[in-house]
Amino acid sequence: MPYEASPARYDTPSFFARCGRSGLMLPKISLGLWHNFGGVDQFENSRALVRRAFDLGITHFDLANNYGPPPGSAEENFGKMLTLDLAPYRDELVISTKAGYRMHPGPYGEWGSRKYLLSSLDRSLQRMGIDYVDIFYHHRPDPSTPLEESMGALAQAVRSGKAIYAGVSNYDAPTTARAARILRDLGVPALIHQPNYNLFNRWIEPELLGVLESEGMGCIPFCPLAQGLLTNRYLGGIPADSRAANANSPFLNADRVTPETVAKVQKLNAVAQERGQSLARMALAWVLRDARVTTALIGASKVSQIDDCVGATENTHFSSEELAKIDAILA
Ligand SMILES: NC(=O)c1ccc[n+]([C@@H]2O[C@H](COP(=O)([O-])OP(=O)(O)OC[C@H]3O[C@@H](n4cnc5c(N)ncnc54)[C@H](OP(=O)(O)O)[C@@H]3O)[C@@H](O)[C@H]2O)c1
Repeated sequence: MPYEASPARYDTPSFFARCGRSGLMLPKISLGLWHNFGGVDQFENSRALVRRAFDLGITHFDLANNYGPPPGSAEENFGKMLTLDLAPYRDELVISTKAGYRMHPGPYGEWGSRKYLLSSLDRSLQRMGIDYVDIFYHHRPDPSTPLEESMGALAQAVRSGKAIYAGVSNYDAPTTARAARILRDLGVPALIHQPNYNLFNRWIEPELLGVLESEGMGCIPFCPLAQGLLTNRYLGGIPADSRAANANSPFLNADRVTPETVAKVQKLNAVAQERGQSLARMALAWVLRDARVTTALIGASKVSQIDDCVGATENTHFSSEELAKIDAILA
């Protein structure tokens, strides 16, 4: 049976938020393809995740050149999903990709040169089988390449029609301000910043968020669930099918699931229960409580997780007592 998207997918207009001061609206929950979409993963599961997400109004899918493993395979798989399911809906999708981390050996396989960024974008488009991405990011700052060169490459990507918007990721506040200024001077406003941000990691407050607000940029926090730590996943040990137990996921090892962390997560879980939310929903709501945050960029291994996460948008308000309680747990 060919895929037909749910007719109800846009029934909740409040699920969308404006990205900074741009014209682009993004869903408040976006789906990233860092884990569970590579060549080592079950394609039909990855496909079911993307279909369910789109059915729920998640129009934004986030990739990078190196997502897999092996690197590049998440883009290839997403390209297959476009062919099989989503091609008729291309104009309804916001597809992003990035370059910055190591993609291939040699001096042109990582960081921020114009050579690397523009050739990487071409390869990403080939792997996905599309003419353009909606957002092209510089994935991490490059201390050795002039910022003008990296931003010039993003501007060139947009001018050439291979990207619609430009973004930066993992940039600190002063570098973001400089990047925004350079892009503005080049006539290609910076759309968005993608930082790591969650209950455990609050480095973007207040300086970076202030820069994004004054520059009119949106904010799409990644790992809002701290890779699953801020969910009920590890409350009773380390499940065999979890990221912490997965040898293909070196970024969350079992040794991160310490008794101290689990004890904090248990207390957070109690606060979530008082709010009538799952812990995952509360963690996402907490990220989305600030109007400067456009969308929370989640990952998922199961369709039921996406269903749960989308429900976070139903209550993103926190009383000052709730915020104080959360801060005390994490102090
Ligand atoms: N720009 C960058 O440098 C950068 C870096 C990292 C990530 N990212 C982006 O951010 C995206 C998200 O990162 P992430 O996957 O680490 O995000 P995350 O949302 O913090 O963690 C996702 C994991 O949490 C668990 N989970 C999700 N929903 C759940 C629920 N409702 N209940 C219980 N467990 C739940 C799942 O773990 P299990 O797999 O164990 O089931 C899932 O794989 C990436 O795909 C990528 O697009 C960007």
